[in-house]
Amino acid sequence: MWFGLLALLVLPAVVAWAEYADVVINERAEEEGMAPVIYPHWFHRIRFQCSVCHVDLEFKTAAGQNGITMDKISQGEFCGACHNGEIAWSVDNCDLCHSGKAGLETGIRGGHETTGPGVF
Ligand code: HEC
Ligand code: HEC
Ligand code: HEC
Repeated sequence: MWFGLLALLVLPAVVAWAEYADVVINERAEEEGMAPVIYPHWFHRIRFQCSVCHVDLEFKTAAGQNGITMDKISQGEFCGACHNGEIAWSVDNCDLCHSGKAGLETGIRGGHETTGPGVF
């Protein structure tokens, strides 16, 4: 009984810090005439382990801090490691990534901003 109650109290906290919402990436896009990028973090992280992106593909866990450019994506880095027409649809689908409203600034939208210990 006591343990059951404890689990009820602890579990939601664990789930909450593991939940991330959309990341807006707009360091260059709008300046260069494209809509801001909306990166659906949750959608991806239920499909891949954190380490696929944050270790193997070397994405830093900080919105907008990766120096992502369209050239690098086209050369198979960052989003382009998967959005290559094989693992996922290719970079030709501009609007699927550049889907943000004008004026959105880089950053996480909704969810939590910090990560818990030992997630990787
Ligand atoms: C498919 C790739 C991918 C996977 C899987 C993934 N992430 Fe991310 N993550 C990203 C990208 C891309 C960003 C945004 C980076 C940017 O803006 O340059 C990001 C941003 C973040 C951030 C910074 C935003 C914030 O919330 O403050 C954290 C923390 C983070 N990820 C943690 C995780 C954790 C924990 C997991 C696993 C549960 C995970 N990520 C899985 C790609 C991924
Ligand atoms: C898989 C996601 C994705 C797709 C598809 C995509 N982009 Fe991007 N693009 C990005 C990301 C992420 C950035 C970095 C955004 C930022 O920091 O402002 C970016 C940046 C840009 C920039 C800013 C300048 C530069 O070169 O980095 C332009 C212009 C651009 N994209 C054009 C396009 C066009 C045109 C297409 C379609 C042919 C396209 N993008 C398809 C994700 C994508
Ligand atoms: C580790 C592989 C991987 C990486 C890296 C990755 N994606 Fe994806 N992404 C996928 C897969 C797989 C799908 C699902 C494709 C499908 O449904 O056909 C997807 C789907 C999406 C979708 C559509 C989500 C929906 O609701 O249907 C968007 C938008 C997207 N990715 C943007 C990005 C952007 C922007 C980046 C880089 C910041 C990125 N992705 C990096 C694998 C990846």
